[in-house]
Amino acid sequence: MIIAIDGPSGAGKSTVAKAVAKELGFSCLDTGAMYRAIAWRALQNGVALDDNEALGQVARSYDISFGHVEGDPVPRRVFIGDDEVTDAIRTAEIDRAVSPVSAAPAVREALLDQQRRIGNGGNYVVEGRDIGTVVFPDAAVKVFLTASDEERAHRRVRQNVDRGIGSIDYDEVLADLRRRDEADSSRATAPLRAADDAVQIDSTSHYIEEVIEQICELARSSS
Ligand code: DC
Repeated sequence: MIIAIDGPSGAGKSTVAKAVAKELGFSCLDTGAMYRAIAWRALQNGVALDDNEALGQVARSYDISFGHVEGDPVPRRVFIGDDEVTDAIRTAEIDRAVSPVSAAPAVREALLDQQRRIGNGGNYVVEGRDIGTVVFPDAAVKVFLTASDEERAHRRVRQNVDRGIGSIDYDEVLADLRRRDEADSSRATAPLRAADDAVQIDSTSHYIEEVIEQICELARSSS
């Protein structure tokens, strides 16, 4: 079974996806981390971020994989080829580079194959922007998770403080979220939007535990 969780940056997708996977005993796939890993590799290789073909070549040449920290059932470590990029893909530099990289059709095509191959291998909670619309249009459960811009910016600042990486300036984080929302929603290929049959959940005024429980309930009642 596939549970698709889409929505803008900072809506709580990662936290919710990982908790739902843990509760249901599913695996979990963070597709945003895959785009970030390609952005990291492209910068390392000196690839121009507006060169669709060269970016596609990067995405086709490297496998992205996930690993576990001992004792944690949720895969939090990210690798591209043999390089671990778990922390390197969470910097402000990658936040900026990932928009043009994820807008490149050749990159999306290459990652679509990888994402389907991984997800079709079992029970998965898959989070991203186009999971319910493009990657897994037949997903058993589709959720579109949102929150107000301000709430999302506050959460991202707290997350960056906890991780010790990324910007902790609220205004800068808010501006970056809005810039990425605009880029994600307006790109020609697989833009961010809710699938017609997605359940829309606004997490601004709900405890995250309620959101997690609501999605688990949707999964239980659809199986
Ligand atoms: O979820 P995130 O912030 O880690 O995602 C990083 C970027 O990747 C974000 O700008 C949107 C893009 N993305 C995408 O285009 N499609 C996906 N399925 C997942 C992420």
